[in-house]
Amino acid sequence: MLTVAQIGCGYWGPNLLRNLVAIDNYEVKYLVDNSADRRKFVNQLYPAIKVCDDLKIVLEDKSVDAVVIATPVATHFDIAMACLKAGKHILVEKPITRTVKELEVLEGIAKKNGLVVMVGHTFIYNAAVRYLKELIQSGELGDIRYIDSQRLNLGRVRNDVDALWNFAPHDVSIIQFLLNDPEPLSVTKTGMDYIQEGINDVVFMNIVYPNKIMANIHVSWLDPRKVRRMVVVGSKKMAVYDDISEYKIAIYDKGVDRLAVLGDNMDFDNPNVFKLSLRNGDLYLPKINFVEPLKVELSHFMDCIENKTECLTGIEHAKKVVSILESAS
Ligand SMILES: NC(=O)c1ccc[n+]([C@@H]2O[C@H](COP(=O)([O-])OP(=O)(O)OC[C@H]3O[C@@H](n4cnc5c(N)ncnc54)[C@H](O)[C@@H]3O)[C@@H](O)[C@H]2O)c1
Repeated sequence: MLTVAQIGCGYWGPNLLRNLVAIDNYEVKYLVDNSADRRKFVNQLYPAIKVCDDLKIVLEDKSVDAVVIATPVATHFDIAMACLKAGKHILVEKPITRTVKELEVLEGIAKKNGLVVMVGHTFIYNAAVRYLKELIQSGELGDIRYIDSQRLNLGRVRNDVDALWNFAPHDVSIIQFLLNDPEPLSVTKTGMDYIQEGINDVVFMNIVYPNKIMANIHVSWLDPRKVRRMVVVGSKKMAVYDDISEYKIAIYDKGVDRLAVLGDNMDFDNPNVFKLSLRNGDLYLPKINFVEPLKVELSHFMDCIENKTECLTGIEHAKKVVSILESAS
């Protein structure tokens, strides 16, 4: 049994709390939130959980093994640091910090105290994303050419982070996961602030990886449609991951093939002489056995603490994500 506390229960926190309460081996002892309204909300739903506004109570309680942090980004570093210093394992919502430097400070304390630091990159625990990764690793798509990711909505407009830092941690973490965490060659971005000065509402980010792999990320909270779509184009086949569709993964047997041309000497050996042929084949919609990603994520967090399993979204993965966002910023 792991005794946990959760800090922050605003928009996203209730999803974490619902899953923590539902998983047998977690005992949720405290919920800390600055807002009296949010404490009342939690108290009415889960009367057995102690609610308070003082993090110190959690830090001083030796029975608390781990802390789940779901507060705004600007508060993550200080809260995470205090928890690690108090000997608690932490699961921090994305983005864990705004700089790699801050993350390295957390890494130092965590290593010294033998503690798990995990980031809530939820999509790495999503069955469709895992299916897509297996598809890429099996070679079915061939060599990956480019990935195009769109995460669009009208709202929720934030004032503490821009659309890049709010949405793109998801896209970057998925792309890094799919490609086995490569080091990008370049990161560029164009963004624009229309609603609030200095806070980009829409951002286009482009990442170039080795082997001519490109990734394009388009995020916005100023768009008429809700879109959560990632297109992966390979040399053999193409796949689309649509998180809000009934069929989350679609595999297209489409592509452009080079056909050898019969040479003068009745051979096919001249690589410079070929014909392009468009392949427009079958569409395959695999059945994905979907389990709520947060449930998988929280079970993995427990596994990392209890069995010392390597964390899929630990500091190394988080460093790449934060460094890509930082270099784009
Ligand atoms: N994984 C996902 O899909 C996902 C989705 C949405 C948000 N998030 C992340 O979750 C985190 C929270 O986002 P949100 O949208 O729920 O924000 P929010 O502003 O709606 O909620 C934050 C809550 O934390 C409380 N709070 C703020 N500072 C505090 C402090 N110092 N101590 C205690 N409580 C404090 C607030 O009162 C509020 O109830 C962010 O990191 C965000 O990026 C993740």
